[in-house]
Amino acid sequence: RDLTVIPTQLLAWYDRHARVLPWRVPAGHGPADPYRVWLSEVMLQQTTVAAVKSYFQRFTSLWPTVHDLAAAEDAQVMAEWAGLGYYARARNLIACARAVSAMGAFPTTREGLAALPGIGPYTSAAIAAIAFDQPETVVDGNVERVVARLFAVQTALPAAKPELVTLATSLTPSQRPGDFAQAMMDLGATICSPRNPACGICPINDDCAARAQGIAADLPRKAPK
Ligand code: ADE
Repeated sequence: RDLTVIPTQLLAWYDRHARVLPWRVPAGHGPADPYRVWLSEVMLQQTTVAAVKSYFQRFTSLWPTVHDLAAAEDAQVMAEWAGLGYYARARNLIACARAVSAMGAFPTTREGLAALPGIGPYTSAAIAAIAFDQPETVVDGNVERVVARLFAVQTALPAAKPELVTLATSLTPSQRPGDFAQAMMDLGATICSPRNPACGICPINDDCAARAQGIAADLPRKAPK
């Protein structure tokens, strides 16, 4: 199967339909700011896009750069974080800002990013792709669902994860990998939704094996808990 049409079609859709989010730079409007990408990805780790927006605006107006955040009082950062939950994230946020500020700038590779406090495999890949346009593959729950459907993966989660990562990696283009990552997230969050996927308006419906089999809404399968 020729997989190269999938990123092409998805990126064309993203150029028209990308969600407008405060940490995003519209296509063609220059590189993303690694500080803003990092801050948004840490906030989004266990919190919805809708809940993160106002916190992101508040943090970036109080602390416009990683150096400003590094210089903040712990107590003020913790107070501004209140309501987002998972307070270990805020502790790591402060430690990470201070480490990056001491280094002078964010590392530009996934490996360098992954060595920082609070940055695991998912977040390091997301920052490398979105802020530095490196061909890293970003797999969150939305992306798992899109890939499981595209390839009609019958293996249940969580056992299916390695297979889904391999398939997602096979799709990642060398051109615009950061936009591709965000396009996959947006497709999963909007059209390729868990319960009632809007397959009729999906930009890659021609390529979707689950849709061809009439089983899109049944995937990904989940192992009983
Ligand atoms: N969820 C996690 N990261 C995201 C991003 N960059 N855009 C939209 N949703 C996300």
